[in-house]
Amino acid sequence: MSNIFTSSVGKKFIMSLAGLFLIIFLVLHLSINITLILFKTPETFNKAATFMGNNPVIKIMEVVLFGGILLHMIYGAVLQIQNLLARPVRYKKSNYSQTSFFSKYMLHTAIIITIFLVIHLLDFWIKNKFLGEVHDITYADGKTYHDLGALVIERFQIGWVVIVYVVLLLGLGFHLHHSFQSAFQTLGLNHKTYTPVIKALGVIYSIVVAGGFISIPVVIYFLK
Ligand code: HEM
Repeated sequence: MSNIFTSSVGKKFIMSLAGLFLIIFLVLHLSINITLILFKTPETFNKAATFMGNNPVIKIMEVVLFGGILLHMIYGAVLQIQNLLARPVRYKKSNYSQTSFFSKYMLHTAIIITIFLVIHLLDFWIKNKFLGEVHDITYADGKTYHDLGALVIERFQIGWVVIVYVVLLLGLGFHLHHSFQSAFQTLGLNHKTYTPVIKALGVIYSIVVAGGFISIPVVIYFLK
């Protein structure tokens, strides 16, 4: 019997829901990280990051986040394999469509994001949560915070690290360009008036989010 977890439509639905959750996470993550380059000192970033690290609700959300990432990856991989198997002769030329360029490279860009995540989590998350490599800092309010900002700024002093981040984050931008509108379509929003709006929002979202993330290592390298 086919259900939401096993049917193709169901798998795409779950993948899109998880994808939308990740789209929201990226906005939150960018809003906090961008403070590193918007303000002179990493104080705001450190206070926000320490709050996120200590808040019990956010701790639960972190588990949900990793679950969402895994669900999205697993269902995406299964759907890709099923598509390949269902198509014995690979087309030499794909059909031309407005989204064909970005949609054709979803698997490639997904692999780039996976590589990015492995490097990124080793760079910061593992060092902070498991290796205790982040020092504490006390601000004027008399409270002590994790100086995660110092770790990020130190990492982005290295030219090749910045280049690797920029290249891999471009892959994220390409992935988001198609996935934003695709997720809404899968979740049932297919409308003569709204679909072009969602598509435009997807383009704006991918440029702002990828561009925002890219600006962080670049600005830190040149200005901090
Ligand atoms: C280049 C800009 C970025 C900076 C400066 C940055 C910074 C950080 C830092 C400092 C942490 C550790 C937080 C902690 O241990 O409490 C972290 C965690 C994380 N980052 Fe990023 N990040 C960036 C881009 C991204 C992007 C583009 C993604 C997703 C594609 C991402 C996904 C994650 C995830 C999943 C975690 C672990 C969960 C969490 O702590 O929230 N990051 N990031």
